[in-house]
Amino acid sequence: MVTMTQHDTESPATGSDVLVVQDLVRNFGELRAVDGVSFRIAPGETYGVLGPNGAGKTTSISMIAGLLRPDSGSVHVAGQLMGPRQVGPKALLGLVPQELAIYPELSAAENLRFFGRLQGLGGAELRSRTDEVLDIIGLSDRAKSATKEFSGGMKRRLNIGIGLLHRPALLILDEPTVGVDPQSRNSILESVEALATEGMSVLYTTHYMEEAERLCDRIAIVDSGRIQAEGTRTELIRIVGELDEIRLDGSGDIAAAAGALERLPAVEHVLTEARTLRLTVREAPTAVAGIVNAAGQAGMELADVEISRPDLESVFLHLTGKALRD
Ligand SMILES: Nc1ncnc2c1ncn2[C@@H]1O[C@H](COP(=O)(O)OP(=O)(O)OP(=O)(O)O)[C@@H](O)[C@H]1O
Ligand SMILES: [Mg+2]
Repeated sequence: MVTMTQHDTESPATGSDVLVVQDLVRNFGELRAVDGVSFRIAPGETYGVLGPNGAGKTTSISMIAGLLRPDSGSVHVAGQLMGPRQVGPKALLGLVPQELAIYPELSAAENLRFFGRLQGLGGAELRSRTDEVLDIIGLSDRAKSATKEFSGGMKRRLNIGIGLLHRPALLILDEPTVGVDPQSRNSILESVEALATEGMSVLYTTHYMEEAERLCDRIAIVDSGRIQAEGTRTELIRIVGELDEIRLDGSGDIAAAAGALERLPAVEHVLTEARTLRLTVREAPTAVAGIVNAAGQAGMELADVEISRPDLESVFLHLTGKALRD
């Protein structure tokens, strides 16, 4: 039975969106891990959440999936309000957690059948769905192997399969390629692309810019518990406008060079990473000669100079003053 409460009357218009996240906040003691996160995912859309370690990605996902209670804010899945005790909206989600959750002594097929039964599948439907999912995740030939013999990447692919069994309206993947071999990584990305092509809605968190660029229709750049910017790749890159990046590698007085370069009018921003200076620069092709000169005069001996067009890394740097990777 559905009862209307005061809360429901204040809930947002969810329209046809498969996910509506409104102003989520979560504190851990003094730390505000998620600080007012709002976004929407349309049916069939792949939405990326791109951010570094500790940005609040997993905390947000735990609240979206109804595993963690927000301090404030709301989540609607296909129009249904999510809460810790709500079964309806949870059944519409397929959650692939960052931490693996599979039984090592069971085979891949046995794991899928076990979790499929928990999701309410059974009989011929469960058997055929198990085979389909094994095919999607590229593990058909290892269906009968105990998963303790699997590589990290194969285990992760199985973890994704578990999230897919009940054909969720929205598949949530939390950094599914961290720590996996390149072959499994590629297989995971291809599976997500195939699912998106078939019309599944996907929420994908990552700290790899390339993955967000390759997979996602729209991307939220997150840091310190907040969405710093949101849009298509093209829209996000427009934020840095015509700014290019120049990387200087070398030795000598790198700190002095960073100081000198910051004072050049063409230079918007300087980030020091060990022996590399990453500069955000207006009109790099014209500015580069002056930059090389200034670095040299400040006592930096250059080993390499590289100019690149802006990408999502540059957007992140521009918005936060930090590098996306640690
Ligand atoms: N249960 C908890 N208790 C206390 N602090 C927590 C807890 N869970 C997360 N945090 C903190 O909240 C912040 C956000 O963590 P979260 O795991 O959401 O980040 P993340 O973006 O998923 O990072 P990663 O890329 O490393 O997985 C971090 O500073 C983290 O230390
Ligand atoms: Mg995480």
